[in-house]
Amino acid sequence: MQRIVEPLDAHERELWGSQTITLRHNLASLDLFSDGYLAEMIESAAPRSVAIHAEGGSDPSDWPSVSRGTASGAQVLDAVRGGMLWLNLVGISEWDSRFAELADQIFAEFSEQVPGLNIVKRKLGVLVSSPKATVHYHVDVPGQAIWQVRGRKRFIIYPSAEPFLRQTDLEDAVRSATYGVASYQPWYDDYATPHDLEPGKALHWQLNGPHRIENFDELSVSLTSEHWTPDIRRTYAMNYGNGLLRKYGWRPRSTSTSGPAFWGKVGLTAAYRKSGLQNKHGYQRITKHTIDPSTPTGARPLPESEWAPPGA
Ligand SMILES: [Fe+2]
Repeated sequence: MQRIVEPLDAHERELWGSQTITLRHNLASLDLFSDGYLAEMIESAAPRSVAIHAEGGSDPSDWPSVSRGTASGAQVLDAVRGGMLWLNLVGISEWDSRFAELADQIFAEFSEQVPGLNIVKRKLGVLVSSPKATVHYHVDVPGQAIWQVRGRKRFIIYPSAEPFLRQTDLEDAVRSATYGVASYQPWYDDYATPHDLEPGKALHWQLNGPHRIENFDELSVSLTSEHWTPDIRRTYAMNYGNGLLRKYGWRPRSTSTSGPAFWGKVGLTAAYRKSGLQNKHGYQRITKHTIDPSTPTGARPLPESEWAPPGA
């Protein structure tokens, strides 16, 4: 079978997970990312698996969520091509067999190259976004890579440390109490590393590294991959537990991922999530717009009587 990822060199294998690594891939040669296949995926996806939003203010949780409504897959792509929208085929490797096979192959290639890499959970998504669209400063919780397939974009990565990433912001992101990180300052750019992504290029960056994206003046199609290792899971549980302790008035100081304090946080996290409080306090989006390729943004507001949670 043809390889997807070009082999990493010895340095890249060592730097995996702790520094930004540039990868080369041949995804653009697959028909999985053609307009025809993407339109088919948009139409066959469950509503909750197609997340579309319009550009909004600096807080991504305020960005208008957009429903597909009665638009066909091709009309949705037209709206993205001519408007100002982001479309995410969420977790596509979990509901499309061809993307499931792609995930198997990509992660098998990683595992054979990076010594000791133990990936316990992973999935792929597809991001289709408008020319000139931007993604504000934010942080992702699992290990992540972005694979550029069509169009070009600038991907700007910031150090995964204070003040670029405040511990409380990370804890909030982990607990899904917020969507993204709000504490961006323009001067952070002096300490950032921009990467211009073109088809055939991918990036894998440091766990929880803050980043933002600026599309060039062309439609962008990217694959996103996320993965969990036992270490990433422990970091997640520690941040979740610290976030809960802080919420209830404590000031957690340890970011250790072993020992009794850590295991106490694992227990606390499990109890909290089991209690259902997470969903109650977690971030909820309401869809107030629908796709309309005839408008400049590609979407139009819905009457209030048609507002609904995504996928409803
Ligand atoms: Fe991200």
